[in-house]
Amino acid sequence: MKFIPIFEPNIGSKEIFYVNKAVRSGWVSSLGYFVEKFEKDFSKYCGRRHGVSVSNGTVALHLALLALDIGRGDEVIVPNFSFVATVNSVLYTGATPVLVDIESDTLNIDVVKLEEKITKKTKAVIVVHTYGHPADMGAIMKIAEKHQLKVIEDAAEAHGAKYKNKRVGGFGDISCFSFYGNKTITTGEGGMCLVNDEKINKKMLLLRDHGMRKEKKYWHEVVGYNYRITNLQAALGCAQLERLEAFLKIKIKNAALYKKLLKDVPWIILPVEKSYAKHSYWMFSILIKEGMGYSRDTVMKKLKEAGIDSRVIFYPISDMPPYKKFTGKYLEVSKKTAYQGLSLPSSTKLTEKEIRYICNTLKNL
Ligand SMILES: Cc1ncc(COP(=O)(O)O)c(C=O)c1O
Repeated sequence: MKFIPIFEPNIGSKEIFYVNKAVRSGWVSSLGYFVEKFEKDFSKYCGRRHGVSVSNGTVALHLALLALDIGRGDEVIVPNFSFVATVNSVLYTGATPVLVDIESDTLNIDVVKLEEKITKKTKAVIVVHTYGHPADMGAIMKIAEKHQLKVIEDAAEAHGAKYKNKRVGGFGDISCFSFYGNKTITTGEGGMCLVNDEKINKKMLLLRDHGMRKEKKYWHEVVGYNYRITNLQAALGCAQLERLEAFLKIKIKNAALYKKLLKDVPWIILPVEKSYAKHSYWMFSILIKEGMGYSRDTVMKKLKEAGIDSRVIFYPISDMPPYKKFTGKYLEVSKKTAYQGLSLPSSTKLTEKEIRYICNTLKNL
């Protein structure tokens, strides 16, 4: 069996055709047919009015926070378990991140603990749909309404996932996506902010392009950024978006097979799917039960010896040097669970034979 990577982008003839068309058109920077098409099609897919494409998912979060006027003196609630971009985006604005613990099964923000961390300074919450499992948006939106908080969805890992039949990215004030090479659909590097509010949309467009309005070239109204995506990346995105539903079907089918084959392994905890959720299984991630004789790192080493790639799940934000000062009470679940988890190969190019081989390798440890 050849080496099985954790992820491979699924690039086919449609992608090559669209990118080729973009290259040949001469529109290789951020103006061009595919940028607007990608924004229109992706926002429609998620049930939002406007899409503002950007150069990656990290700056999507930064742009969203700026557009909501978040800055020095404000507190923003973030989960203590996520890719570090979630918390970094808050720090870029000068606001203070407030770390909240996670649920041990979905690995998403703990809604009860979230409400306990709200203070007079809390202005917003960034909700992450971790590994493709939607956060409990109903409960979160209720809390946000009660305390008048802005909600940003960090849906980088959850393209196409649904909360109660509504696609993620359609909740809260602004939602942010990443299209990095390992995401369910990719533009190489890239991201997008989705919004319904016309004013916020305009503000994001302004900030994305150095504070310059389309109607008055080289007149800069505010200090903005160059956070634009290119037409070439958007061309790739348009082709990938046409295949997203097919990718999701494969991911869900692969997850079901993993679950079926691993269900009787006593030291593995499988990912859950809550009754309100339609999981998109971006990364199929398992936890290693404590006290069963295997550590997460041993399992990963054994998989590697068998030619199988795997990936640690995220470390708790509060344990890493730049963020230790933001640690606080009640972070026990994230501080423990984060060291128990690993992601298994999750590409849409994975074959049934490969999944059976991975599961047999795990069973035989
Ligand atoms: C939850 C989350 N937020 C934000 C990002 C940042 O996206 P990017 O890598 O495109 O900057 C990622 C992943 O890469 C992510 O997983």
